Amino acid sequence: MIFPEDFVWGAATASYQIEGAVKEDGRGQSIWDTFSHTPGNVANDDTGDMACDHYHRFREDVGLMRELRLAAYRFSVAWPRVQPDGAGPINPRGLAFYDRLVDELLAADISPYITLYHWDLPQALEDRGGWTDRDTAHRFADYAQAVYDRLGDRVEHWATLNEPWVAAFLGYGNGVHAPGRRDPASALRSAHHLLLGHGLAARRLRTSGARSIMLVVNSSPVLTPAQVNDPWAVPGDADAAVVERVHALLTRQFLDPALYGTYPEEVLEAAARNGGTGHVQDGDLALINAPIDLVGVNYYNPCVVEAGPGLPADAAWPGSEGVRFAQADAPTTAMGWPIVPDGLSRLLVRLSRDYPQVGLMVTENGAAFDDVVSDGRVHDAERVAYLDGHLREVHRAIEAGADLRGYLVWSLLDNFEWAEGYRRRFGIVHVDYATQTRTPKDSALWYRDVITGNGF
Ligand code: FCB
Repeated sequence: MIFPEDFVWGAATASYQIEGAVKEDGRGQSIWDTFSHTPGNVANDDTGDMACDHYHRFREDVGLMRELRLAAYRFSVAWPRVQPDGAGPINPRGLAFYDRLVDELLAADISPYITLYHWDLPQALEDRGGWTDRDTAHRFADYAQAVYDRLGDRVEHWATLNEPWVAAFLGYGNGVHAPGRRDPASALRSAHHLLLGHGLAARRLRTSGARSIMLVVNSSPVLTPAQVNDPWAVPGDADAAVVERVHALLTRQFLDPALYGTYPEEVLEAAARNGGTGHVQDGDLALINAPIDLVGVNYYNPCVVEAGPGLPADAAWPGSEGVRFAQADAPTTAMGWPIVPDGLSRLLVRLSRDYPQVGLMVTENGAAFDDVVSDGRVHDAERVAYLDGHLREVHRAIEAGADLRGYLVWSLLDNFEWAEGYRRRFGIVHVDYATQTRTPKDSALWYRDVITGNGF
């Protein structure tokens, strides 16, 4: 099972999850600092104050990447390091950190893939309304420009947003993520302003000369319980209708505007019932429909639904009236997420059919398990099986014609897993948070061999 010659192998992380050093070199406060320091929001009241201390240990971490033969490293830039108040003066010391990191990666022959927004909004912008405020989209474009101006001479691959669905609907909808607001109208508004920020930033990056521009979404195939284990199962009309509605809310809400300049009916209807569509101004969709090169797909598990007549909408899913969110009949990871590897090929094949104008990249895929270190090793056989199973499905999607450019494991390191804190370990490298010792798990060594052989 050999992958295309130029297939890109790598791993991903995000700023707040690994960097620590939250008060250093003029960094401003982010919504995740505020949220994690508010008791009760994060398991064990963990915060990202120290995390993996990557801010100080990035050289060692790039050394690890080199040993694992990674060709690509996807990381995010912390907006509050670069622009502490989210507007106004740029902080050169914040940019200097990413400058050093990029140089270290290039010296190790690893391509940097920069994500400009992985959820750490400057708190000062949240104080002015955050993503519910249209101006935040313009501030994001200015910040993107500042990062490009400093790193664009060496970095080819740029992603604007990571998972705008999660940022909008967990951040402003059900309040499980920062900033912890719970209001369906705010969530839908935020989703639109995130998209507007994407479009404005993508245009600035393109004009400035960026070679490759990407939008990263969390996407899942939406399946009925029967379809999880039987791809040929044919849902009845009521189930089929909720499947397509949830697909529109999860995936088409973002990819249709970005790639076609249109909103699905289902999204407009949800907005009409939750505060209205007034935030969608004339010309916005044309701005959002900026040319991009790649869609980044973060896949962990399918989304399983069936018709649930009379049920109210879920807090994270305005527009989901009459939908029952169901459990998949499948084994689960430590997150409780069902393991359904062929969900990935089903998803990739559909996306490549619906959006043939862009290439695809798996920008996150991985699993949390309760790993233990013994005698300097971590025998994470379940993670190896998870990655093996999903990579086979990536290969299958390529054979079925999907234009798939690469695969990035989530994550390089165990890290601050948002509302779950440090108790969920997604790394292929184990981190002992008390000593900051890194130990490559068996999955890392296995992955190195896959990379070296360009397949199995
Ligand atoms: C994704 C996030 C990433 C990580 C994984 C497990 O939703 O983009 O930061 O937390 O989930």
